[in-house]
Amino acid sequence: MTDVDKAIAALSLPAKVRLLTGAAMFSLHPDQTIGLSALVLSDGPTGVRGPEFTGGAIACLLPNATLIAQHWDTATAAEAGALLAEEATAQGVHVVLGPTVNLHRSPLGGRLFEAFSEDPLLTGALAVAYVKALQDKGIGATPKHFLANESETERTTVNSVVDERTLREVYLLPFEMAVQDAHPWAIMASYNRINGVTATEHRELIEDLLKGEWGYDGLVMSDWFATTSTAASANGGLDLVMPGPDGPWGGKLVAAVEAGEVEESTVDEHLRRLLQLADRAGAFGEQHVRTDLPAPDSPQRREQLRRMAARGMTVLVNRDSTLPLAGQRIVVVGRHALETIGQGGGSARVRPPHIVTIAEALDATVVDGVEVRTEPLPAAPDVLRDPETGAFGIRVTARDEAGAVLESRVTDIAEVTAGDGGWFDHAASIELSAEIVATQPLEAGLRGTGEWTFEAGDQRETVHLAEPPELGGAVLKPPSWTFGQLEPGTQFKAITTGQPGMRRLGLIARRPPRSDTDGIAEATAAAHDADVAVVVVGLTQEQETEGTDKTTLALPGGQDALVSAVASVAKRTVVVVNAATPVLMPWLDEVDAVLWAGLPGQEAGAAVAAALTGEIEPAGRLVTTFPRRDGDGPAWSTTPVNGELPYTEGTSVGYRGWTSEPLFWFGHGLGYTEWTYGAARVEADDAIRSVHVELANTGDRAGREVVQVYLRPEHEPVRLIGWAGVELDAGARTEVEVPCDARTQRRWDNGSWRPLTGQVLIARGLGDLRITVR
Ligand code: BGC
Repeated sequence: MTDVDKAIAALSLPAKVRLLTGAAMFSLHPDQTIGLSALVLSDGPTGVRGPEFTGGAIACLLPNATLIAQHWDTATAAEAGALLAEEATAQGVHVVLGPTVNLHRSPLGGRLFEAFSEDPLLTGALAVAYVKALQDKGIGATPKHFLANESETERTTVNSVVDERTLREVYLLPFEMAVQDAHPWAIMASYNRINGVTATEHRELIEDLLKGEWGYDGLVMSDWFATTSTAASANGGLDLVMPGPDGPWGGKLVAAVEAGEVEESTVDEHLRRLLQLADRAGAFGEQHVRTDLPAPDSPQRREQLRRMAARGMTVLVNRDSTLPLAGQRIVVVGRHALETIGQGGGSARVRPPHIVTIAEALDATVVDGVEVRTEPLPAAPDVLRDPETGAFGIRVTARDEAGAVLESRVTDIAEVTAGDGGWFDHAASIELSAEIVATQPLEAGLRGTGEWTFEAGDQRETVHLAEPPELGGAVLKPPSWTFGQLEPGTQFKAITTGQPGMRRLGLIARRPPRSDTDGIAEATAAAHDADVAVVVVGLTQEQETEGTDKTTLALPGGQDALVSAVASVAKRTVVVVNAATPVLMPWLDEVDAVLWAGLPGQEAGAAVAAALTGEIEPAGRLVTTFPRRDGDGPAWSTTPVNGELPYTEGTSVGYRGWTSEPLFWFGHGLGYTEWTYGAARVEADDAIRSVHVELANTGDRAGREVVQVYLRPEHEPVRLIGWAGVELDAGARTEVEVPCDARTQRRWDNGSWRPLTGQVLIARGLGDLRITVR
């Protein structure tokens, strides 16, 4: 008997079942009788946030998944995994909830920033490297969300209707690769339904395919609050219900076993997988939290994160070698220069030590552009202070029914989360108070659902903010309310009475929004005098977030007008786009260069500066095809019709399904040097195993090329089968070996795989084919 079997034999049915639902939002139950300590889980995938939703540990914020993926380099994905493992170890976290391996199906998907790519092979290969690196350091990885969870609209109920072939060839492939090549210790089942069956109870997918056919030996957990059944989910292969302590298992599962609806051996099997995870992640016996690892703001981490961000940035256009910049007088324009976006919204958010803005990092005159948000954010850390101690931040006071203070603390961010097990969870009322310290009047207000009283001086207002309809809306999209402007020195408070459930609460204090006309006038005046205007535009967490999808790819607010206005007066215009997922670029012909900066994490501005000046070559290649217009491409709408979202494009996802010329192809990226391709040779047996190609750096700078190999079968969509990254000095040449994966050279045909053959294309992105081998 193994130790795990002994532990199972030692527990009663209720004791076993208790372990199969979380103990809290991000932790599992310990059990002293078997020596099990509490497993701690944390999101993922771009930083280890820890067990709190807001206000938790300060953690490294990595470049987002698309920016990591734009390296086209498994070593970079491994570097991300290893870094996350160290961050987890420092925080006592056993399992990281990532990577996200859903695909970029429609560019409207709100959560694509968390996922690597539209291509299953690239996604799978990066996931393999990321998972291995985490687990090699003793931390569990959790590829998610299994399965067909490519958009957010109606995400907890939507039925993704996908034919088996498409599932096998496209959406399952990254999971299959992860399972075969990296053996993840956990996998997360998604919220949605797949062909009519809820993911958490999808016996065919979990029990038969994942655990049966693929031989997956890890644990399957539910997405948060996703499980809606008892026997069906337990019998379908789900091992762990998250979060807890409540949920549809517990006593109901005990009763289901007693009623004969679920075998006790099924419960034992779930527990065996759970205890195996605990064993793998070191949750038996004493926990070792390392304290000798570099801090998130240490020079080592900062340099590492700057490089990881800058190297993945992608040069989309570079007329007359406008980039890299060298010694010119630069004017930087745009709200994203001053408030650079380092990460997307939702459960992936972490609390970084800082986000270096582009304005801080570039030696240039900086001009704020136009408004980019419709909703106010919690106040910046330096505009509010605690009225009692004067410390920057806000005061949070918890009171009981009688109004007596239970506890009062200062927090240095103007936001807290109630209902996640924190210190004020049992309060009858929570008061947030602060004093304005800015030099100018600020618009003040509050964020969060529920009943509120707002007081400033002798003014008092009450307001009710309703909960958004989506699951977790009170956390993911807290509504806001603004009162009006308050003078510096004014004290104000917002009091909310107890409301069950998790919700984010915060204070607002911001400069009042200004008109686009004023913003554009100021920008063009400044751009006149410069050699180069760098206009920084982008999306915000209003678009790139969990919980909602976009409705357009257009940049929000007057940003397109700002770019055109600046381009019409500036000698040269460089646009930096601070976003993870495609945006429309109606001004593309008016500007000289475009740098795609992604969501660059905590060192954002420093990385953009390094990329613009060429200190680090922005050597990224796109991981998604960019549409020219809203509606273009093989899959667009993410709005279910009568609850159903049919994946009608089938296997023709992303570039595979484009029939017209997009704005930029998957794989596109110029870097800062020129590449010449020579002779090529294909090595094949029952599949293409590798392609060898002569390559020369014929530009005048060292650089990195990504040689991409595609297969174009006769009656099937073109698909990536391999790639290789190579760094060469100016003038150097080499023979590059591109390993090719057989798993995208096959077709799922009525229950079995058949090999595919066809033309081999060697390319720098599908818009720049260099060699075709018949
Ligand atoms: C997300 C998961 C995440 C979980 C825990 C859910 O809303 O879909 O990706 O890991 O929350 O925060």
